[in-house]
Amino acid sequence: MPELHYTTPDHAGVTQGPLLHEGKAKKVFATNRDDLVWIHFKDDATAFNGVKRANIGDKGAVNARISAHLLRHMETAAGVPSHMVAELSERDHLCKKVDIIPVEVVVRNVAAGSLCRRLGIEQGRVLPRPLVEFFYKSDELNDPLINDENALMFGWAEAWELAYLRAAALKVNEALVAFWDELDVTLVDYKLEFGRWHGNQILLADEITPDGSRLWEKGTQKSLDKDVFRKDIGDLGDTYRALFARVFGHDFAERAGGAAV
Ligand code: TYD
Repeated sequence: MPELHYTTPDHAGVTQGPLLHEGKAKKVFATNRDDLVWIHFKDDATAFNGVKRANIGDKGAVNARISAHLLRHMETAAGVPSHMVAELSERDHLCKKVDIIPVEVVVRNVAAGSLCRRLGIEQGRVLPRPLVEFFYKSDELNDPLINDENALMFGWAEAWELAYLRAAALKVNEALVAFWDELDVTLVDYKLEFGRWHGNQILLADEITPDGSRLWEKGTQKSLDKDVFRKDIGDLGDTYRALFARVFGHDFAERAGGAAV
């Protein structure tokens, strides 16, 4: 698979501005353009809403590269536009400054995680069709599961927006399942975020990375994602570098444009 660096003519002359927001895995900076933000991927890993933390070398670079690649793929293969404008460095993305919709969209193909805890479904059961769930984006409340009525009643999203999120998530899922399948990986579940752009357009935003996805190696069912960190079942840096190699077809250390490691 070619390592296409995500660039567009739109990023010429953009400079980094002040820090706007620091999250668990990324920093968001303003730029000299009102409509663009500069997103820096950190090496920090957190789990259980920040209770468990560690610094994992290379994690930011692996996540940034995989996310750029997958967001672009979602535009071309699924027809779902994203906030990506360009990759500025191996850890920095230039993105459209969207207003994040506080409804996290989780898509599941195989039962795992909170679905099993909540409904007593056995882990690993293949679902008859993709399941789309909405969670309210709130660290204080631990991102609770919500339904459409909750989102509408409390003004977190409008009806047309929820319809778009669901339809876009299913399109993304089809393309993403096929992408991972080709690499002998089962896409178990993952979280997507979307943002409002110019009021009337919705863009896929945030990231698509192994931090927010469950990826199981076909055959062995080995976790290739952040569950390695959550469950202490291996070295997260090695896991992420191996995933990079699987996606791009060469070792992380041999990547183009990256620092030698
Ligand atoms: P889920 O099974 O609901 O939660 P948990 O990770 O606690 O078992 O998560 C489903 C998928 O979505 C999983 O791959 C992790 C991801 N996700 C996030 O990355 N952040 C979130 O806030 C949520 C709700 C899910």
